[in-house]
Amino acid sequence: MADSTPDVAEHSEESSDEDRRGFVTRLLAVVCGGIAGAVPFLSGLVVILDPLRRRADGQGFLRVTTLDSVPDDGIARYFPVVTDRTDAWNRYLDEPIGAVFLRREPGSSELECLNAICPHAGCFVDFNIAAKQFQCPCHDSNFESTGKRLNPDSCPSPRDLDTLEVDPERLKAGEVFVNFKNFLTATPEKVEKE
Ligand code: FES
Repeated sequence: MADSTPDVAEHSEESSDEDRRGFVTRLLAVVCGGIAGAVPFLSGLVVILDPLRRRADGQGFLRVTTLDSVPDDGIARYFPVVTDRTDAWNRYLDEPIGAVFLRREPGSSELECLNAICPHAGCFVDFNIAAKQFQCPCHDSNFESTGKRLNPDSCPSPRDLDTLEVDPERLKAGEVFVNFKNFLTATPEKVEKE
């Protein structure tokens, strides 16, 4: 009877060690399983959210051209505006989203930028070099070279041509970036399209 006590104690210690090892093993399995499961979950989340994130492409300043492409001669020059666009889950590269006219007064490094769309009904205006005027071929709206309507009382367009902002910092480096926006037509106020 006296001989059996150390065996019981020894057996009890071994059993306790095995329990600890088993617990640690199960804990590691749970942690590793959690990490392994989280990776595909997070990857899936990125894939799901990515198009929503990229939908913002095309907003903000877009590169249009270089300053050298707009001589300082007072003549407005036409440039298409393109950007990458995300529609639902597809990505389209260099999609045209509109156009601008850029113009520099003689001797000036400042740029004037106008949206090329007529605010009356959305036709593209032309720049008449001889008359130094913008003319809309659709319903005969005429604008000064600055974009102001020549005859506001009789002009079909309810407002002047829409001005757009040029990034002054990038312009100093010779690059023309425009904060491009399209606006609703047939409204006296300049209201940005959604
Ligand atoms: S769309 Fe330009 S005048 Fe009508």
